[in-house]
Amino acid sequence: MSYRSYPKLELHLHLEGGAPPAFIRGLAKEKGIDIHKIFDEQGGYAYRDFDHFLRVYEAACTTLQGPEDFRRLVLAVLEESASNGVIYSETFLSPDFCGGGDLEAWRDYLGAMTDAAAQAERDFGITLKGIITCIRHNGPEQAKTAARCAVETKGDFITGFGMAGAEMMGRPGDFAYSFDMAREAGLRITCHAGEWGGPDMVADTIRDLRPERIGHGINAAKDLALVDEIAEQGIVLEVCPGSNVFLNAVESWEAHPIRLLRDRGVKVTVSTDDPPFFHTTMTREYDMLAEKYGWDETDFAALNQTALEAAFCDVATRERIAKKLEAAQ
Ligand code: ADE
Ligand code: ZN
Repeated sequence: MSYRSYPKLELHLHLEGGAPPAFIRGLAKEKGIDIHKIFDEQGGYAYRDFDHFLRVYEAACTTLQGPEDFRRLVLAVLEESASNGVIYSETFLSPDFCGGGDLEAWRDYLGAMTDAAAQAERDFGITLKGIITCIRHNGPEQAKTAARCAVETKGDFITGFGMAGAEMMGRPGDFAYSFDMAREAGLRITCHAGEWGGPDMVADTIRDLRPERIGHGINAAKDLALVDEIAEQGIVLEVCPGSNVFLNAVESWEAHPIRLLRDRGVKVTVSTDDPPFFHTTMTREYDMLAEKYGWDETDFAALNQTALEAAFCDVATRERIAKKLEAAQ
């Protein structure tokens, strides 16, 4: 049995990381860019480890050169998500890849992406919201340009601010200015932490950046006092088990701490992160949770409810998605 048609919410998806390899190959061909090295013999993305993954990811992004490319990307990614039962999705968007942080350029990219999201809603029945992310390894100064783009374009579509990239570069506090700026403008806050960093990185992120949600957060499980604090504060984890296993952030599905975190009262959700890079989909995540842990529709309904409550969307959207879930679950 497969959970493909079961309705799902996804809170942690990098837009460029959702690009099917064939889509990127097509753009490369159109533009005469040689990136054959980032693909394996089967045509999938090829990389050795997380640092190499980030470089391959950025090489793939060199083919995305204007608003029209991002319009097509949003449609391709959402068509795939919808075909896996996703009815609501939040995607990380980085001005660093869309005009390099220039606000006027960013507005053009964003216009194309919001048009595409509206079209996907009509055509595929999926709702999308955008979370602007700064990229940690590009440093705190570049992060400020991303935060400025977020503040200036906050609205119905752009609802959050976060940080992705190489977690072991710098400390969370280095980015406090950007996160404060975003929070003060009313943006909702999430941040990658505890995918590679230990419990100290998660604790510093909570203290210095005050996120409502944490991307991954799995290494918090190495410090049970911290796990209890996360549970108590109601901080939601955007857990991406397939990504963690594929990138060797954990040894195996069996060794993944999502059950421990959930059992200790932490609010957990499940997402794909960068699905084609990790040979996963939301269907596969759910199917693996069922196969490896025996999770069933009761568990999946609880995941959906947690994600719905933690979604960075307006009340009307939340109510609309709740009704859709009720009808489909
Ligand atoms: N950017 C895209 N995927 C990422 C991940 N898993 N961690 C950090 N940054 C990312
Ligand atoms: Zn991520």
